[in-house]
Formats: sequence, C-alpha cells, structure tokens
Amino acid sequence: MIEFIQATKIYGKSDRAALDHLNLKVGDGCVYGFLGPNGAGKTTAIRLLTGALRATDGQVLVNGIDVGKEPVKAKKLIGFVPDSQDMYDKLTGWEYLNFMADIFGVSTADRKERGERYLERFEMSQAARDRISSYSRGMKQKIAAIGALIHNPPVWVLDEPMVGLDPRAAFLLKEEMTNRAKEGATVFFSTHVLEVAEKLCDRVGIINKGKLLAEGTPEELQAKTGDESLEQVFLEMTGGDPAEAEAK
Ligand SMILES: Nc1ncnc2c1ncn2[C@@H]1O[C@H](COP(=O)(O)OP(=O)(O)O)[C@@H](O)[C@H]1O
Ligand SMILES: [Mg+2]
Repeated sequence: MIEFIQATKIYGKSDRAALDHLNLKVGDGCVYGFLGPNGAGKTTAIRLLTGALRATDGQVLVNGIDVGKEPVKAKKLIGFVPDSQDMYDKLTGWEYLNFMADIFGVSTADRKERGERYLERFEMSQAARDRISSYSRGMKQKIAAIGALIHNPPVWVLDEPMVGLDPRAAFLLKEEMTNRAKEGATVFFSTHVLEVAEKLCDRVGIINKGKLLAEGTPEELQAKTGDESLEQVFLEMTGGDPAEAEAK
C-alpha cells in the first residue's frame, strides 16, 4: 500500500511546487497508472516515494511506514525501476541480479529461484550471461525490472517503463505488472502514454503542473467527464487552461 498525504516538493528557490499537496492512496493488488504530460511532477512524486528526495511538506507512507522518517525500512518494501537505465555496464545480467540481491540480503536459494523464473518470463535467460554493455535499451529495462523484483517487494514502482520498449518487451512487462498485482503487490507506474494506462490499470490518476486533477478507475473518469475515451479526458484536463493562457 502506498499513501501520499499532502505530499509537496518545491525544488530550491522555485516559486512553484513541482508536486503540490498530493493526496493519493493506492491499495494492495492494484495496478496504478500515474498519468501526466512531461514536467507534470510524476518523477518528483516517485522520488519522494522511493526516498530519493525529501518532501518539502507532507508525508509518503509505504505499507504504513513513513519514507521520510524510516527510509531504510521503507526502501526494503519497494522495487524501483527508474526512467533511465545507465547502470553497471560492466556487469553481466546475472552479476547485476546478484548485486541487487546482495543489497537486499536475498538468500542464495531465493535469488536463484526468482532470478531464473523472471529471466525466463522476460526472455532474458541467455542474455543474462552477457555484459549489460551489450544490451539494447529494452533489455536493460528488462534486467532493471528483474533486479527490482529480486527481493520480492510488496510495492513495485516504475517510472515511464514503456519508453523505448519494443512491443514484445512492453507486452511482457505489462503482463508481469498484472501478475504482481494479482499476487497482492501494489504496482505504481508513471506514463505519458495513454494507451498503456487505459488497458492495464485498475485505477489512474491524472496529474498536471504538480496537481492531481482526477483519480479513479478509467471507467469512472470517463463517466464523470462524459467522454468516450481516457485519451479525451486526459487531453481536456492537461491541454492547458485557456483563461490562464490569456493571463500570460
Ligand atoms: N532537480 C530539479 N531541480 C529543479 N526543478 C526540477 C528538478 N527536477 C524536476 N524539476 C521540475 O519539476 C517539475 C516536475 O518535473 P518531473 O517530476 O520530472 O515531471 P515528470 O516526471 O512528470 O515529467 C518540472 O517543472 C521540472 O522542471
Ligand atoms: Mg518523469
């Protein structure tokens, strides 16, 4: 379970909050899509959640644990796939998985079982013997995803996971996100790509300029606005306020 309570981030001397009093609760067993255009505040929210950034105000809880107050404890509950994969190029896939398993204190038996299982699911069993430097972007993304699951975290967080993935890799990743949620995990990911969210998510939140504009199941959002597709809802909500444009 993830809970943002009035979570706010103001960078440096900026006069605008990159994340503005976000209130959001994401339950176990849910695939949650955090949607918004570039610069909306998605990565900022995720960095507060993973403990990479401290909130200027408010709190973020992971399974009831305050990330700001008990970062080490909270981080153990999270598997995180960042939006860029410039990682440990010299390691082979398996060395990377062992490295992640070491960090989280995963037993030899568990890392072998999980590593083999996920490598197979992501069609990476062969590649895991090769150095990451030889991987395509999609392969790096997949090994990062597996590395984030090696400690079997109850919360899986992915920042723009579909960017740069070929259709097959995207399919496998989406399938695994659904699987993890079915097993009871909380899966939270950001995207600016609508098609992904509409099919995959149990619930979505639409964010723009640091503010959560709408939240619910895709059907609820469509019903609320009377729109036919989530894309229309999204475009209307994030397309810019004409009044505000005039004021500039
Ligand atoms: N390290 C930083 N320092 C200053 N401003 C930042 C920093 N990171 C992000 N921002 C600003 O915060 C806002 C939200 O950015 P971000 O969370 O990266 O959005 P998203 O992930 O939705 O594209 C943007 O206006 C961005 O320019
Ligand atoms: Mg981002």
